[in-house]
Amino acid sequence: MAGYILALDQGTTSSRAILYDDHARPIKMVQQPTTLQTPRAGFVEQDAQQIWQTQISCAHDVINRAGLLATDVTSIAITNQRESIVMWDKQTGKPLAPAIIWQDRRTANYCKTLAAESASNSMNDPVHPGVDSVNMAHEVQRITGLRLDPYFSASKIAWLLENNPKLSVRASRGEIAVGTIDSWLIYKLTGGEHVIDVTNASRTLLFDIHKLAWSETLCDRFAIPMHILPKVLPSDGDFGKTKKGLFAKQIPIQAVLGDQQAALFGQGCLDAGMAKNTYGTGCFMLMNIGQQPKLSEHKLLTTIAWQRKTSPIRPDNLSFDQIVQSGKRMLQPPKKEVTYALEGSVFMAGAIVQWLRDNLGMIQQSSDVEDLARQVDSSEDVVLLPAFTGLGAPYWRSDISASITGMSRGTTKAHIARAALEAVAYQTYDVLIAMQKDSPHPLTELRVDGGAANNDLLMQFQADLLGVPVLRPRDTEITAKGAALLAGLKTGLYDESTMKASWQVDRVFEPSMSTDAREQHLTKWQRAIKRSLMPL
Ligand code: G3P
Repeated sequence: MAGYILALDQGTTSSRAILYDDHARPIKMVQQPTTLQTPRAGFVEQDAQQIWQTQISCAHDVINRAGLLATDVTSIAITNQRESIVMWDKQTGKPLAPAIIWQDRRTANYCKTLAAESASNSMNDPVHPGVDSVNMAHEVQRITGLRLDPYFSASKIAWLLENNPKLSVRASRGEIAVGTIDSWLIYKLTGGEHVIDVTNASRTLLFDIHKLAWSETLCDRFAIPMHILPKVLPSDGDFGKTKKGLFAKQIPIQAVLGDQQAALFGQGCLDAGMAKNTYGTGCFMLMNIGQQPKLSEHKLLTTIAWQRKTSPIRPDNLSFDQIVQSGKRMLQPPKKEVTYALEGSVFMAGAIVQWLRDNLGMIQQSSDVEDLARQVDSSEDVVLLPAFTGLGAPYWRSDISASITGMSRGTTKAHIARAALEAVAYQTYDVLIAMQKDSPHPLTELRVDGGAANNDLLMQFQADLLGVPVLRPRDTEITAKGAALLAGLKTGLYDESTMKASWQVDRVFEPSMSTDAREQHLTKWQRAIKRSLMPL
């Protein structure tokens, strides 16, 4: 079987389109930046039309530049920044407000109040009978696997409706639609399908990850009419075809995954206990935990990794690697298998380096940070606490701000650059410790990807802190590949051996730091964290 898969990767700071051939090799990539707006403190927005325009223009461009025709493309796969929301007019398809981005903290107080109100309400709340209001935060975690935090979509949708009475009226009349970025792109691509994939749904704080359906209780609690939400489909579901005239042929959309879930899939973490960390705008560590949605006891998230309509049953309970080695064939059952993941979401990673570049003008381009940091042997006492949008896992504090501490008269740009890279690794360490406590599977290695995974200094420091090998694949653009692989597996363009061949190691970073040095580093970080978490 021949053909190409067009993967659309809509991230926080750019739209990308990548073409994969019938061996899942990337043959061409086109990228366009998108603009983040911060009109008020805590607000992070994007123009939804710009998201669409840049994405479709990349899609057309990549086909042209590869010297192909749309008729060569067998499927579209979509992967996207998660939690961010768009609200649009169902009739005209026009956005009704700027997209509210996952980093937006405008609803921090709303979330706090919701938790507090719930705690003070009576146990038998007549308005919200399904919810034990004393334990609202607990209830939210039980249903969705997530935390009552402004990071997720629900409070963003609620904010739009509450602050725009006209929208609220129109919502009740069924005139508007809301969705995450995948949903918005599919609507525009197909000219009207209002659907969402299950991994993106699982990031909204409105989705029951056990029943695999929107939670009536939570929609009610956030005052969001359920009919404005999209229909939920498996990650390799049939999301519709591109509308006539958009490409030279109508191309089916055959796989959709949130970007972090796509990276988990692309990294080949198909067995429980395998984990990856993506160093993008933020840093997201996900561990495959198998088919049971275990809730975290250490402030991590439980999320849907993927749901495959055509999940192969593995013969004789063999692992993925054993099957490939033994040459046995997968059996294709008509089963919708759900795989869950534990996730530690860190809000600032590559974005810290962007801050050094754009706000402080310390470097010309992000990749210059490694050379600058290497100008010194250590960051000395400098610690950069990157709470620019609060701290995510495992602290979940939206009320604290960023700081640089431990500076002396001799502190230079190089010390700050080194402290910035170390901050990325320290945050990942904190997540890993929480994950080890939650998971029955000891972590034996960490697969890494994303832009900052190309930074050797950071990767070595990461391995040193974690005490496990860090494995960097040759292709670190794994997010788009994950979505493309899923589409190819669904259509038969790829098989399990394509998947295995598509992951090749570039470099293994073995831990080499002495125990004493490691302890000193960790103590320095933990002191800084403790100081920032203390009430003023
Ligand atoms: O949860 C937010 C995440 O999906 C954003 O990913 O790659 O745009 O930083 P990225």
